[in-house]
Amino acid sequence: MNPKVTNQPLIAPSILSADFARLGEELKKLEESGADWIHIDVMDGHFVPNLTFGPPVIKALRPHSQLPFAVHLMIENPDRWLNDYLQAGADRITVHAEACIHLHRTLTQIRGGGAKVGVSLNPHSPLSMIEEVLEEIDMVLLMSVNPGFGGQRFIERTLNKVTRLRALITERGCDTLIQVDGGVNPDNIASLAQAGANVFVAGSAIFKADSISEAINTLKSNAMTGSF
Ligand code: DX5
Ligand code: ZN
Repeated sequence: MNPKVTNQPLIAPSILSADFARLGEELKKLEESGADWIHIDVMDGHFVPNLTFGPPVIKALRPHSQLPFAVHLMIENPDRWLNDYLQAGADRITVHAEACIHLHRTLTQIRGGGAKVGVSLNPHSPLSMIEEVLEEIDMVLLMSVNPGFGGQRFIERTLNKVTRLRALITERGCDTLIQVDGGVNPDNIASLAQAGANVFVAGSAIFKADSISEAINTLKSNAMTGSF
C-alpha cells in the first residue's frame, strides 16, 4: 500500500496567527474555507518562550466550530493538565516527547480520555524518541521550526526526517499520520507531501494571505500534486 496515494492531505490552520480579539469569527471563516482541523498552539512560557491560551479559551471556542480541535501542547508536565484539555473539548492532543518523562503513561491517559493521541518532536530530537510508542499513537508531529512562535523559517532538514519517518511507519505497517508544523507554505508543501507527510499546519501562510480560502485551497492542491 502506498500511503501517499491513499491519504488525502489535511490542512490544519494554526490560530496562533489569527486575530485573538475575534477568534470565534476566525474559526467560522476557517470552516467555510475548507480547513480540516483547527490547530491550537498552547504555550506555557516554560517549555517554550511564549505564552498563549489554555483550557478556558478552548472551551469558549468549542461551540464556534464543528471541526476537530487538535491541541498542540507546548507545555511542561502535560500530565497535570490533560483532563482540563479533554474537558475543554480537545479531539486530538499532541504532547512533546521532550516534555514527558513517562511518555507511555501520558499517551495512555490521553487515549483513556477519548482523544486521539499525538507526539511531537522538536527539530533536534531524533526519531528514536518515538520508536517505542509508534504503534500506540495516531500521529507524529514533526516540528519544522523551533516551537514558540509563528512566522519562522522552515528548517529544510525536516524533509529528510519526514522521509525517514514514513519509511519507519511503512516498515511497521501502521497508519500513524505524519504532521508537519512550522514554516509550511505553498512552495514547500508539495515536497513535504511527496516525502510522506499527510497533515500540514499553517499559520502565517493562511492568516497573512489576502484570502484565507484561497490560501487553504492553494496549500491543499499543492499538497495533492506532491501526493501523487
Ligand atoms: C510554533 C507552532 C506552530 C506555528 C505555525 O510553535 O507550533 O503551529 O503557529 O505557524 P507558521 O505556519 O507561521 O510557522
Ligand atoms: Zn503547533
